[in-house]
Amino acid sequence: MQLVVVQGGRPLKGTVKVSAAKNAVLPVMLASLLAESTSRLEDVPDLADVKIACELIEHLGARVERRDGALFIHPPSQFTGEAPYELVRRMRASFLAMGPVLARSGSVRISMPGGCAIGSRPIDLHLKGFSLLGARITQSKGYIEAHTPGLEGNRIYLDFPSVGATENIMMAACLARGLTVIENAAEEPEVVDLANFLNAMGARIKGAGTRVIRIEGVGYLEGTSYSVIPDRIEAGTFLAAAAMAGGEVVVENVICDHVKPVIAKLREAGVQVEEGENSIRVTGTGQFRAVDIKTLPYPGFPTDMQPPFMAMMTLARGTSVITETVFENRFMHVNELKRMGARIKVAGRTAVVYGVRRLTGARVVATDLRAGAALVLAGLAAEGETEITNVEHIDRGYDSLVEKLQSLGAKVSRVHGT
Ligand code: UD1
Repeated sequence: MQLVVVQGGRPLKGTVKVSAAKNAVLPVMLASLLAESTSRLEDVPDLADVKIACELIEHLGARVERRDGALFIHPPSQFTGEAPYELVRRMRASFLAMGPVLARSGSVRISMPGGCAIGSRPIDLHLKGFSLLGARITQSKGYIEAHTPGLEGNRIYLDFPSVGATENIMMAACLARGLTVIENAAEEPEVVDLANFLNAMGARIKGAGTRVIRIEGVGYLEGTSYSVIPDRIEAGTFLAAAAMAGGEVVVENVICDHVKPVIAKLREAGVQVEEGENSIRVTGTGQFRAVDIKTLPYPGFPTDMQPPFMAMMTLARGTSVITETVFENRFMHVNELKRMGARIKVAGRTAVVYGVRRLTGARVVATDLRAGAALVLAGLAAEGETEITNVEHIDRGYDSLVEKLQSLGAKVSRVHGT
């Protein structure tokens, strides 16, 4: 088993470059299956989830090639396989294969995602969208099958602005006949990035980034060359790390607009944050006030930043109320933070964090990706040594987190242990 070991108490100093966004690259990889020719993706981050996406794409009959620093995806003329439980279970975003495969081939068989550490995460909105586009959907033995003689555009209202449902439906609608309108669509930057990629392939999408997306179906799409946006959650994680551990860090390759809610909260907490052209400088003293946060769909405070921000609030002056409105069970990191000396009370979707003077290193478990990041941050600011297990969760979504923190002077390493 691999562990991440952190010796706390060292301020961070230097410059760190953010990688391409996990949540943008995964849908873009799957969207490339919609085209009839090869796509070339630049700067693809080195993530476990990207490897799973490659496996899935190959499983479906496409060919994936890494060459000249880029990832080439050669879509098949006919899809051969299905999206099996084994892959969908390991990465929920695998479900985003449904839209592209259904739209191109008229039928798809995909495993249901099943339970997930951060809540039940249903897929009803995805299915509602496909069925309104004219797919006949059946379910058996844990698999979903959808068939259509040809998708037809329609008006689809999402009960919640789900990122995945918006993306899945938008991808399928590109090849549907006529106009599709997605109402109450997700406005996340990753949705906009996916729309830009699809439009570069020849799709006709307008309004991505607003609550109403209009997609005029086209007959076919061609592969293209693309480079996805920087990872706003990775950027936010480094900002919070610098605020917590203290020191001075410049985070490069950031679209400042995408991290606005995080910057606003850091400033409210009294942390000095300066925005550059596409970089952000944080000067942390390790001292900050407690602030309340409520997670919301974009442009609200991102749920993926809730665990790292909670880690920060454990050491704030005062009491912070953290309300999670996006996922119903996203407080798995609370018990682990408590093992390090944090004082947190959870009631339903709210966590009350009473700031303490110090955290102390302990052995803790990364229960999911962002919970893992939260524990690394807590370890950086804690006294003594923190050992984080189940670090494969962190590898799903952070490219070289340990190495990047080392370059900022953190005493952190990855070791084999039990
Ligand atoms: C994506 C991100 C994830 C992020 C989340 C919210 C990717 C690969 N993952 O996940 O990192 O935390 O957005 O910003 O991009 N819901 C339904 N029915 C559905 C679909 C969703 O009720 O059919 C609910 C979910 O249970 C959840 C909420 O909608 O409570 C938000 O989920 P959604 O926006 O779909 O998140 P994902 O796309 O899975």
